[in-house]
Amino acid sequence: PGSPAALDASKLSMTLAKTLKPLQSIETLRFGQSFSDHMIVATYDPEMGWSAPEVKPYGPITLDPQCSCFQYGGNVFEGMKAYLGPDGKARLFRPDMNMRRMEKSCARLALPPIDGDVVLELIKRLVNVERRWIPKESGYSLYIRPTLMMYKHSPDWNVGLGVTASDHAMLYILASPTGPYFSKPVSLLAVSENVRAWPGGTGGHKVAGNYSPGFLPQRAAAEKGYDQILWLFGDDRRVTEAGAMNFFVVVKRDDEDGVDLITAPLDGTILPGVTRASCLALANDPEFHKEISVRLHPQEMVYTMSDLAKWSSEGKLLEALAIGTAVIVGPCNRIGFEGKDIVIPGDEMGPIGTAIRKKILDIQEGRTEWKGWGVV
Ligand code: COI
Repeated sequence: PGSPAALDASKLSMTLAKTLKPLQSIETLRFGQSFSDHMIVATYDPEMGWSAPEVKPYGPITLDPQCSCFQYGGNVFEGMKAYLGPDGKARLFRPDMNMRRMEKSCARLALPPIDGDVVLELIKRLVNVERRWIPKESGYSLYIRPTLMMYKHSPDWNVGLGVTASDHAMLYILASPTGPYFSKPVSLLAVSENVRAWPGGTGGHKVAGNYSPGFLPQRAAAEKGYDQILWLFGDDRRVTEAGAMNFFVVVKRDDEDGVDLITAPLDGTILPGVTRASCLALANDPEFHKEISVRLHPQEMVYTMSDLAKWSSEGKLLEALAIGTAVIVGPCNRIGFEGKDIVIPGDEMGPIGTAIRKKILDIQEGRTEWKGWGVV
C-alpha cells in the first residue's frame, strides 16, 4: 500500500557507540586498514522502499548466504575522501562526481536506483559524526567507502540461487582514516594475457566484480618483482589502466611547446576517475599553466605499448603516473614488457606529476579555492 519510501537523510537515526576507539597514531596509518567508530546503514525493500538510514556502531552485518551479492557479485562501491582544512572545516572533493558514478554503477548491475544527492547528504552526516577521525596532517584523510549491494530476495519470490538480481538492497557507508597509498615509486608489469575490461563490459563502472579478477595476475606480477599491473587491451596492446588506478604519461612534444599529458579515452573500458577528470581539467586550464609555468596539452587518446617504447627510446617519455582517489597522483618508475623494462628517468615523481598532485592536494585540503571542487 502506498508508494515505496524514498531514501531520506532527514530520517537518519543515531545509535552511538558506548565506547569510542582510540585514534591511531599518524605514523601507522595505511590505506583502508582501520575504521572509525560508526557506519551508516539503510536497506531497500521493493514494497516498503528505503528504511530510515541509521548511524550505528561499526560492526558485522548479517546476510543470507544465498543472496546474489555473494553468489553473483551484485555489489557497487565508491571511494572518496574527507579532509580537514587549515580553517578547521571538513571538505569533500567533487563528491557529486562520485554520486553520479554510483547512480550509473547501480543501474548497470540492476540494483535499485539510488538518489546520489541523498547518499551525499548521508556521507556529510557521517563525516560530521566522525570528525575526530579526520587526520589533520597533509596527505592524510578520512576515506569514505559507500557500498550498495544486493541483499536478499523477497521470500515469496522463490529465487534462491536463481541467476538474477535480488530485489532487496543494502547501502552502507564506512569511514577509514587513511595515509599514503604508496610509500615509493611503483613498478608496473604490462599484462595482455589477462584483461581488466572489454567493450560492453563493466570496466567503465565502479562495480566490485571488476577488482577480484585482478588479484591473481597481481600476485603473479609481485612474484616477478613488480608492484602493480599495467593493463593492456587488444592485439595492438593498448595501454589502459594501472592496477586499480587510471594511468597517465607525460610526453615531450616535437614543437617543444610544453608537454602532452596522455591517458586512455573513456570508451567504456576505463574507469571515469574523479582524479583523472580533475588532472585533465587542470591540464586544460590556462590559469593552471600560468601557475606552474608549463603549457600542458591533455590528450585522451588510444596509445599502445609500441608508442610507450618508442617515446622512451626517443627520450620523450618524461613521467608515468598512477592516478586515483586513494593514491591521488603517484609515480611509476619502470614498466616491464616482454622481458624488458622501460625505465622512467628520476628516482622521485617528476615536475608535472608533482605540480598536479600539489594543486589537487591544495584544493582537497582547503588551502586553495578552485572552481567549487572542495565542498565544505
Ligand atoms: C582508487 O584509486 O581510489 C581506487 O579506486 C583504488 C581502490 C582503493 C579501489
